[in-house]
Amino acid sequence: MFETFYGMQYTPFSRDLPTEKLYDSPPMQETLGRLKYAAERQLFAVLTGDCGTGKTTTIRRFVDRLDRGKFHVLYLFDSKLTPRHFYKGMGTVGL
Ligand SMILES: Nc1ncnc2c1ncn2[C@@H]1O[C@H](COP(=O)(O)OP(=O)(O)OP(=O)(O)O)[C@@H](O)[C@H]1O
Ligand SMILES: [Mg+2]
Repeated sequence: MFETFYGMQYTPFSRDLPTEKLYDSPPMQETLGRLKYAAERQLFAVLTGDCGTGKTTTIRRFVDRLDRGKFHVLYLFDSKLTPRHFYKGMGTVGL
């Protein structure tokens, strides 16, 4: 409803917004560059930030543009993840 009022084509800030439609902010570009650097060198990286600042969205965009021939994406969701479960999860994809 408000979309029509403001002349919007999409509902802004929805969670399933296609990643090519995202606002291309300088902080997101910086984060994407750092994630690329870490992935290409097989490093560990941790992305932290305040609630709702776009961490998941930035990773979604990063993953969408990854060369799937070179990288394998694994999503492990477990708030009590132990090193044992981490390696077990990695092992299930045959790395
Ligand atoms: N660059 C962007 N352009 C447009 N919308 C965005 C952008 N980044 C984030 N959003 C929107 O902002 C909202 C919050 O983003 P997101 O869920 O990625 O944040 P988060 O940091 O992962 O949050 P949480 O701390 O709750 O996990 C989402 O609805 C998302 O679609
Ligand atoms: Mg998130």
